[in-house]
Amino acid sequence: RSHIENITIVLDELFQRSKMTMDKIDIIGVTYGPGLIGSLLIGLQCAKTISLVTGKPLIPVHHIAGHIYANNLEKRLSFPLIALVVSGGHTDLIYMKEDYSFKRIGSTLDDAVGEAYDKVAKICHLDYPGGPKVDKLSKLGKDTYDLPMPLDDDSYNFSFSGIKSAVVNLVHNEEQRGNPIRIEDMCKSFQDRVVHVIVKKTMKAIQKYGVKNLLLAGGVAANSYLREKLSEATSLENINFRYPRIEYCTDNAAMIGAAAYYAYQKGIIGNLEQNAVAVDSLYNEK
Ligand code: KG4
Ligand code: ZN
Repeated sequence: RSHIENITIVLDELFQRSKMTMDKIDIIGVTYGPGLIGSLLIGLQCAKTISLVTGKPLIPVHHIAGHIYANNLEKRLSFPLIALVVSGGHTDLIYMKEDYSFKRIGSTLDDAVGEAYDKVAKICHLDYPGGPKVDKLSKLGKDTYDLPMPLDDDSYNFSFSGIKSAVVNLVHNEEQRGNPIRIEDMCKSFQDRVVHVIVKKTMKAIQKYGVKNLLLAGGVAANSYLREKLSEATSLENINFRYPRIEYCTDNAAMIGAAAYYAYQKGIIGNLEQNAVAVDSLYNEK
């Protein structure tokens, strides 16, 4: 409902601020999924309408391709690369040998990392979205809570539901006993373990695929500790590491435009039949 109310306002502002006019548009990039179907449909309907009116091609963009191409806004990507995509809905390791070629080599088996951050924040009575708050508070804390390590096996998959549930149970138990939680320490204990496993598996993927380029993408790419630890690990191995500016980490339209350009070059062109998808059905796994 909020999207319906805002979409035309956003369009007006877009044309005003960018000093663009409808006739200057070459292609229209639009997110078709995955995500909440209601909001996706509003954006898609709007893009289809512009495509119909202008006669310009409609380019359907996968949300995660957008996050990855946020890294291409300021500097051209170098291939082959490994992309670590960490957001509220994804924790993926992806191998790309060239533009718009995505091979997923690992993924979360349960909760996405951002989802786990948000849940830990909520149980600690921090506002949504909790990820940035957990990040900030953990700078003031110590790793004193004995939480389980997230899945640390030979695969490239992740699992964060165990550590998330451990935090939830610990906080409930302490609250029932009337013991205050040291929130900064809880944030630090959680973040240290999560980042440790993510960095370890990412570095292993880099070695296995023999690449020299790593990029970080998605809302959790804003996490200062993850950036710091990946910077350390990659500089030891002479790997080029990059991440987007903070404003391009969280969901934004610029990244969808950046991806649409390369999708178009690859001949990925939609039409007015294009539908939105709620679930993550694809990468063009090549
Ligand atoms: O990519 P995004 O904006 O939306 C999805 O596609 O899901 O990611 C949002 C997620 C939220 O879970 C939010 O808490 C998390 O990114 N996030 C962070 C930080 N900034 C945003 N998580 C940890 N540390 C941060 N600094
Ligand atoms: Zn996102």
